[in-house]
Amino acid sequence: MTAPVVLVTGATGTVGPHVVAALSDRAVTVRSAVRDPEAVPDELAAAGTAVEFDFAKPETWGAALADVDGVFLVRPPAVDEADLKAFVDAVGRVGVDRVAYLSTLGAEKNVLVPHHRIEKRIAATGVDYTFLRASFFVQNLLEVHRADVVERDEIFVPAGRGETSFVDARDVGEAAAVVLTESGHADRAYDLTGPEALDYEQVAAVFSDVLGRPITYPNPSLLAFARRMRRRGTPLGFVVLTCGIYTTARLGLADRVTDDCRRLLGRRPRRMRAFVEDHADDFARDS
Ligand SMILES: NC(=O)c1ccc[n+]([C@@H]2O[C@H](COP(=O)([O-])OP(=O)(O)OC[C@H]3O[C@@H](n4cnc5c(N)ncnc54)[C@H](OP(=O)(O)O)[C@@H]3O)[C@@H](O)[C@H]2O)c1
Repeated sequence: MTAPVVLVTGATGTVGPHVVAALSDRAVTVRSAVRDPEAVPDELAAAGTAVEFDFAKPETWGAALADVDGVFLVRPPAVDEADLKAFVDAVGRVGVDRVAYLSTLGAEKNVLVPHHRIEKRIAATGVDYTFLRASFFVQNLLEVHRADVVERDEIFVPAGRGETSFVDARDVGEAAAVVLTESGHADRAYDLTGPEALDYEQVAAVFSDVLGRPITYPNPSLLAFARRMRRRGTPLGFVVLTCGIYTTARLGLADRVTDDCRRLLGRRPRRMRAFVEDHADDFARDS
């Protein structure tokens, strides 16, 4: 029997590399969908083949989808929703066996998020689907907020005293590999959270403990946060999106902890502490 072929979109993003790594441990032929196959990192190149793919260029879809059994689907934040939906329709037409879609916690109820509409579009294709509705990634603290930690010893987010059930993108990637390779996950949705909900005072305490220096949480207003992001050159659209996400946390709507990750992985999902320990060098003080 030949190994199933899985196309991984967003393979160089936050979750994609962990999907690729977990699939390649499972005797799957991994095809990483990237805009520039010449520029893929060594780990991705070693784990499978890379194919040119762009959601905005339908001419790249045919080769990417040829003989594919499964798709890990991500909507990169900058990609147009209409392009993403057109690709979903193409996935339906070529007869892929299953799709795992990286969605967001609460997407089934929140008509304002694109994930709500994309989930519906995927379900309408008739392809077996699994929605991975993920909570807030701990990786955001590294990818978006690292400068505040290394330059000012602060976690600077406008989340008030609200708690968040942070999930580690590494666990989301492993969960995706499970649903794409094992049976029993067709037409289901999982709410992927970490094992605990923490407010940012508690997050700062974990950082202080692990990094060995005081990290504070100044509890900034939305305005102060937006001003700092803009001063740093962050595009307005991303600042608005981020303010919306932190307002959800501020209102106490991001704190739901579920057991889905543990059930899929067969172990407890990673805690915030493990993430900070694994990235302690990245958060070291700027000298
Ligand atoms: N951040 C969170 O806390 C969180 C929580 C739950 C759900 N989500 C959802 O997770 C998804 C991913 O978010 P993220 O911020 O982590 O993004 P991301 O995966 O880091 O997005 C970047 C990836 O998208 C690829 N990409 C960008 N434009 C592309 C295009 N036109 N065609 C093909 N590939 C393209 C990039 O590939 P190349 O540049 O290599 O081509 C890169 O691999 C989003 O839908 C988000 O809403 C995020």
